[in-house]
Amino acid sequence: MSKKVLITRIIPGKAHEMLSKAGFELSVWEGSGPMTQPQLIERAKQVNAIISLGADKLDKHFFSQCSHLEVIAQFAVGYDNIDVAEATQKNIPVSNTPDVLSDATADVALGLMIAASRKMFYLHKTIERGEWKQFEPLKNLGIELSGKTLGIFGMGRIGMVMAQRCRGAFNMNILYHNRTRNAEAEKVFGARYVSFDELLQQSDVLSVHSMLSDETKGIFNKAAFSKMKRTAIFINTSRGSVHNEEDLIEALQSETIWGAGLDVTNPEPMHADNPLLQMPNVAVLPHIGSPTVEARNGMARLAAENIIEFYKTGKMLTCVNSSVLNKNQN
Ligand code: DGY
Repeated sequence: MSKKVLITRIIPGKAHEMLSKAGFELSVWEGSGPMTQPQLIERAKQVNAIISLGADKLDKHFFSQCSHLEVIAQFAVGYDNIDVAEATQKNIPVSNTPDVLSDATADVALGLMIAASRKMFYLHKTIERGEWKQFEPLKNLGIELSGKTLGIFGMGRIGMVMAQRCRGAFNMNILYHNRTRNAEAEKVFGARYVSFDELLQQSDVLSVHSMLSDETKGIFNKAAFSKMKRTAIFINTSRGSVHNEEDLIEALQSETIWGAGLDVTNPEPMHADNPLLQMPNVAVLPHIGSPTVEARNGMARLAAENIIEFYKTGKMLTCVNSSVLNKNQN
């Protein structure tokens, strides 16, 4: 009997095509938004495997209802919506989609850095408001990036691409803070490993590329911002909960730091009346790190490959709790 796979939103057709060709029976949620958790549980009960998205809440309650699932392939690099410890406990392997969206996400971080440093989003709005009158010798002054110091918080795949872009485009010096040392970053970009405090104190641009975890949740708070340079720009393209948004607003209003570029906010979606949207030195985007044709097709392909590979060989290409796979093989 063929295995049934639930895809919790319509994703690029490549995944559907690959899974159907491999003999899986597909069930796709075709709603315009994510399912509620009760809807998700009901649909998940009828299948063997799921391709999940970031908005799906796969928490302790979900796993208590759906412990029959054989495998979960997340269509995202981040998987903070999934209680992986609980999945592991239930012996369910979980995969994500790293690498395929690193270029796309790093491009957004780079774009936000440039946009914030030159007040681009704000100045664009002044044209729309009919406020562009004449050359202003002392107004709209931004900050140049060439030769400045980039601090990377989380030197994983996306952090590496950001470092490469910033080194190539602006000859920036690279500092980083990470759970473990990254020998490649040190060799290729001359990146210097520093403590979290040193990262805060020495970065002209501080770009967040870490996962959201108990350790990183809210780590960029009032105390952290107060240690940064008054001329610093804070960039976050990972998860909004890594920064405390009230503290960020306060740090910008009090000129404790100079500017910010955010692709992720806390909460999401950001409220239209959020003061960050009116600040000249701030650029905000609605969580668009991965939407390029290339990245989304890559994510679809990798999610499907993970499921196909699991049923074919018992392995997955990008499993985040591989202890389950190893255990199953013993
Ligand atoms: C990711 O892949 O984690 C993106 O942020 C989309 O959720």
